[in-house]
Amino acid sequence: MEIIVKETVEEMSKVAARVVAHTLNAKPNAVLGLATGSTPLGLYQELVRMHKEENLDFSQVTTFNLDEYVGLTQKHPQSYHYFMHENLFKHINIPKQNIYIPSGTTDNYAAFCNWYEQRIRECGGVDLQILGIGSDGHIAFNEPTSSLGSRTRIKTLARQTIEDNARFFDTREQVPIYAITMGVGTILEAHKIILLANGEKKADAVAAAIEGPVTSMITASALQLHKDTMFIVDRPAAGKLTMLDYYEWIQAKMPNAP
Ligand code: PGA
Repeated sequence: MEIIVKETVEEMSKVAARVVAHTLNAKPNAVLGLATGSTPLGLYQELVRMHKEENLDFSQVTTFNLDEYVGLTQKHPQSYHYFMHENLFKHINIPKQNIYIPSGTTDNYAAFCNWYEQRIRECGGVDLQILGIGSDGHIAFNEPTSSLGSRTRIKTLARQTIEDNARFFDTREQVPIYAITMGVGTILEAHKIILLANGEKKADAVAAAIEGPVTSMITASALQLHKDTMFIVDRPAAGKLTMLDYYEWIQAKMPNAP
């Protein structure tokens, strides 16, 4: 794992955007795995800027989003369909038919989940997966005790996640209880993964994911098993890492490595 600590959310977002741009320059028809939430907003803003000012091209890109709330229509302002459209897709030149987001309103979730996994495979797998992390250590909506081999499926949200996400809704009661989410096993098949985290509220989860045991109690810890994962975090989110000095030493010395 590579651990990059930046002083601000802006710097964190710019490093992540450079990784995305590098992926698209090397493979213009790359498949991106995308996340929602407050964490990747700066990344999406930077990608939009790069598209407008530096001609970063999304015309051949395919995207798969991690998750969606069950029961929210695409037009609901808190749906992840709406979030992605407003914060990224409407500002870039990605063809509509190349965008995949789990459906929160299908009448057959089991069939939809199988189809979603199949589409990822048919598109050649995810080249670069973007992740956030929940304060309970989840990736996507893989809540504590999710199988580390899990695939796309319906998940019941943890109370802590409902509390965390209540800030986006008028009342706590409006937060959906179920979500459709890629599994940990699905995520681990991505060729490259970057996990973003900012703020002190994420420090415990980040430390547990990077330095704790691999455990389904912190599903982000499964990334320790992945061959090419980068954690890009701001300094407050890195606050509980016991080996922080070492990670910064590695970053300082890496340019001269043989
Ligand atoms: P956040 O959510 O970016 O809004 O903090 C992250 C997550 O729950 O994965």
